[in-house]
Amino acid sequence: MKKTTTKEKLLTLFEENKGSYFSGEEIAEKLSVSRTAVWKAVNSLRGEGYEIHALQNKGYCLAAHTDILSVQGIQKYLSPLCSGIALTVLQTAGSTNALLREKAAAGAPGGSVVIAGAQTEGRGRIGRSFFSPSDTGIYMSLLLRPARCPAEKARKYTTMAAAAACEAFESLSGREARIKWVNDIFMDGRKVSGILTEASIGLEDGFLDYVIVGIGMNVYPPREGFPGELKNTAGAIFQEAQDDGKNHLAAEFLNRFMEFCRASEESGYEESYRKRSLVTGKEILVLLPEGTRKATALDIDNDCRLVVRYENGETAALSSGEISIRMTDF
Ligand code: BTN
Repeated sequence: MKKTTTKEKLLTLFEENKGSYFSGEEIAEKLSVSRTAVWKAVNSLRGEGYEIHALQNKGYCLAAHTDILSVQGIQKYLSPLCSGIALTVLQTAGSTNALLREKAAAGAPGGSVVIAGAQTEGRGRIGRSFFSPSDTGIYMSLLLRPARCPAEKARKYTTMAAAAACEAFESLSGREARIKWVNDIFMDGRKVSGILTEASIGLEDGFLDYVIVGIGMNVYPPREGFPGELKNTAGAIFQEAQDDGKNHLAAEFLNRFMEFCRASEESGYEESYRKRSLVTGKEILVLLPEGTRKATALDIDNDCRLVVRYENGETAALSSGEISIRMTDF
């Protein structure tokens, strides 16, 4: 197992006691290292952007408003249900889904989670890219290895993630979150989060080998604003900086997702999803390979398929795909 460095130990101490001062001597004693090692670790954290105050008679303190994603920062908010999670936090990744896919292929266990503070090649659905600027978002992928699970059940992880994300966003922001089937989360009519689930299926038995649930969250408005078309459609979960906002939100999402996973049959994620549906009862356009068809969205069934009635009266349960809904209908 990898040895914990002094810097990591110090960050744990600081994250768990944000805003509290510790003298260099106290820290050295707590971490069983020399005072020089403490000083070096403080400087190294400062180099990573941590605001660490130093006062002559009080010692060092991590500023309470620090909002940098880290394993230590997230862990302090995780519930015992997340004890099986192995977290990796990177400031930047190409795509956390792609990275976790590599890890999965190399045998990483279920419960592995990769979180990045920025992505250079963030991937969205249907071959689109996902805007993933630094410092203002959370880009997270979770690896699941469900036992003997038929491939078509992979969809439930997207819906579970959407419901978990909505609950987490609402509990920390106090604002309502809504779902545009199947994987887009909106607040006040703007998309604040999207989910991309990828799966590997055993050719022999048709069971899921693994599932990767990737979620991108626009936590704050990007400093330079949203680019191009996103200007009119994208939004953020918070409008202003929150103390520890990103670590708390990442953990809150994991807590709720794991709760849904633990008791997937009776945990009520379908209900949580359904009641936040933006499309039920609305006139929609179903974008099919053969063309676009007008329909009414009737319901979301227990397999989280969208039940629609086309203009000719025919009904269908859509398991994936793209629909469009007029923004004025929100
Ligand atoms: C969408 O809205 O089309 C889905 C976006 C999914 C983005 C997330 S960010 C974390 C993970 N890594 C990726 O490259 N994509 C997903």
